Amino acid sequence: MTVTPKSVYVKTYGCQMNVYDSERMRDTLKAMGYVETPVPDLADLVIFNTCHIREHAAEKVYSELGRMKRLKKEKQESGGEMLVAVAGCVAQAEGAEIIRRAKTVDLVFGPQTYHRLPDLIARRLKTGDAIIETEFPAEDKFEALEQQNGHRVLNRNVSAFLTVQEGCDKFCSFCVVPYTRGAEFSRPPSQIEREARRLADAGVREITLLGQNVNAYHGEGLSLAGLIAKLSHISGIKRLRYTTSHPRDMDEALIEAHASNPKLMPFLHLPVQSGSDRILKAMNRGHGIDYYLETVSKVRGARPDMALSGDFIVGFPGETDTDFEDTLTLIEAVGYASAYCFKYSPRPGTPAAEDPDQVPDEIVAARLARIQTLIHAQQTAFNRSCVGRTLPVLLEKPGREQSQLMGRSPYLQPVHAIGQKAQIGAVLEVRIDSVGTNSLSGHIELVEA
Ligand code: SAH
Ligand code: SF4
Ligand code: F3S
Repeated sequence: MTVTPKSVYVKTYGCQMNVYDSERMRDTLKAMGYVETPVPDLADLVIFNTCHIREHAAEKVYSELGRMKRLKKEKQESGGEMLVAVAGCVAQAEGAEIIRRAKTVDLVFGPQTYHRLPDLIARRLKTGDAIIETEFPAEDKFEALEQQNGHRVLNRNVSAFLTVQEGCDKFCSFCVVPYTRGAEFSRPPSQIEREARRLADAGVREITLLGQNVNAYHGEGLSLAGLIAKLSHISGIKRLRYTTSHPRDMDEALIEAHASNPKLMPFLHLPVQSGSDRILKAMNRGHGIDYYLETVSKVRGARPDMALSGDFIVGFPGETDTDFEDTLTLIEAVGYASAYCFKYSPRPGTPAAEDPDQVPDEIVAARLARIQTLIHAQQTAFNRSCVGRTLPVLLEKPGREQSQLMGRSPYLQPVHAIGQKAQIGAVLEVRIDSVGTNSLSGHIELVEA
């Protein structure tokens, strides 16, 4: 008799840390015999790994859950059972409220409890009751995950994420992360190194170290610069990156690593949120504009070709036209290779949401359009400046067109070039011939970088 394997559908919202968490859930589920399916229809388990950062992100999941009610019924009619799980930051923030709003949900668990997935599924199947697991547990999640599936071959692409630091103690006045991810925590370096080696053995050539404040990493006294130095010794790993950094934690050793470590890529995501000192203070960011500009100039002193990226919030409570103009001035002064701009979204439980001075939506929309135009112009200028240059590109996967490969430049730009599948995983010199909207095109030169 053949047993049909159980199927799981996973949908991920939000930041790279959620992408990483979903990968780890997939590892666990694979070890339990689940096979992944690209559509939720008739799946045995459906997981939404959710994001709470802005209202829009949080609401998206509820419309998906509405759809699941029908799919769940179809599955029942075919004699099976579909479990619907809400994981991630909405689960953490809203807990039981999710089940009140969407009765179709069977499991609710947060970013710190997903290692208990096998047990949660078993309990739900046994009791038939919905399960909510959102406390911050005492046991080490990463230790538990390693026990579950540490020795199995991981299914990763050439470039993979590795969470090294979680949570946040900074409490910016607009942000939910300290509530959804908990207190700042650094994983032990030896545990991270074991995971990095396993990734390298599974064919990974580039690792992006992740944390909400990754440069605040301090595992067993080792700073992020120390951790990067340690991981650089793994021969299979050709490139290292890290994200997201907080300006306050950009220390000298990390800046110096950009000058001396050839595996560390010249790309830095360093969000500043606003170009107005007054707004930065109201946001509780803990630094001003002069300090940010000084940090950028130190970083560029160490690595002159450093590509910078950032995040900006438009329409923070009390933001005046002058504050907003200051943000545009800062962007002009820095010159970003890319950046994300968001409309301020009041989040329940955060101090800024209580501020009576909310900016009217038409003003926010107009400001967002202006800032996006400026960022787009800077991104285009940066991409154009690469035409005619030869850049080392890590080839990641087949491109959309035939015989085409997709890779990344040191500056994280997607690059397309004609090549062979056997070249995937190699860093090859690519001469950049042209620029698309969001990517570069070129041809591979024959020397290996
Ligand atoms: N730890 C990082 C950012 C984490 S959240 C840092 O401190 O920079 C990712 C981005 O979402 C933030 O940089 C911010 O630009 C945006 N964001 C967070 N809360 C928001 C809110 N309430 N409204 C709009 N954007 C928000
Ligand atoms: Fe949120 Fe601020 Fe922490 Fe970043 S530093 S995660 S924006 S509270
Ligand atoms: Fe969203 Fe949680 Fe990441 S709120 S941005 S998924 S840490």
